[in-house]
Amino acid sequence: MISIKNLTKKFKDLCAVDSLSLDIYEGEIFALLGVNGAGKTTTIRMLSCISRPTSGNAEIDGFSLKKQSAKIKEIINISPQETAIAGNLTVRENMEFIASLYYKDKKIIEEKVKALLKDFSLEDVAKKKAKLLSGGMQRRLSIAMALVSAPKVLFLDEPTLGLDVIARKELWKQIEELKKKMTIILTTHYMEEAEALADRIGIMVKGKLVEVGTVAELKAKTGEEKFEDAFIKIAGGKL
Ligand SMILES: Nc1ncnc2c1ncn2[C@@H]1O[C@H](COP(=O)(O)OP(=O)(O)OP(=O)(O)O)[C@@H](O)[C@H]1O
Ligand SMILES: [Mg+2]
Repeated sequence: MISIKNLTKKFKDLCAVDSLSLDIYEGEIFALLGVNGAGKTTTIRMLSCISRPTSGNAEIDGFSLKKQSAKIKEIINISPQETAIAGNLTVRENMEFIASLYYKDKKIIEEKVKALLKDFSLEDVAKKKAKLLSGGMQRRLSIAMALVSAPKVLFLDEPTLGLDVIARKELWKQIEELKKKMTIILTTHYMEEAEALADRIGIMVKGKLVEVGTVAELKAKTGEEKFEDAFIKIAGGKL
């Protein structure tokens, strides 16, 4: 579904993403891990056409990131690390606004919004201004907004940041449900989240993708029993 070739992003003399090559298969959940500043968000921003690569390219569903970004924008969506919610609009207005960018028919907009508010347990707060929601509810709203367009590929940058343990597990279930319908690339600092959700994991260190594999493969490679220890070894450059 996604084929990344030598994708690179430089900020002046900092190479935030360094010649990253990777294939992500249709229908999988791929977790991109790495310590703060490893280059995860920068990678996701390039793949979701928010930021232009310095060099390299990727194909998403056969479309070239460099040459066909308009096509790619039609089939992807993103819930960014800093959620893009309009605080002064209500939850429902946020959803309606996003839906109106994709659909003209008022009835369809209403149906989509209604279904997603239900799926993400946001019905009770639909009339609340988004800025008054708790952090966890804002995350849920952000993901619901990304799903309005029924994307083939969904990028989730730290989807469960700041969520309590119950809300996090609830969201895991919802993400697993989505898996049947789309390819998902997520980032997280919670190792148990990557273990619970990801089919495969990629670990970035200083802009470079240093390891890719299943939880079992990465554990075997490092000789660690716990995935967290395997991650620490790889991400800390001790392998
Ligand atoms: N717009 C920018 N201008 C300059 N440097 C940037 C910019 N965006 C990111 N960087 C730098 O690029 C590097 C990678 O940042 P990025 O946000 O991709 O990391 P990350 O892996 O998502 O980290 P975190 O886990 O903290 O979210 C960092 O050193 C960061 O300071
Ligand atoms: Mg980030």
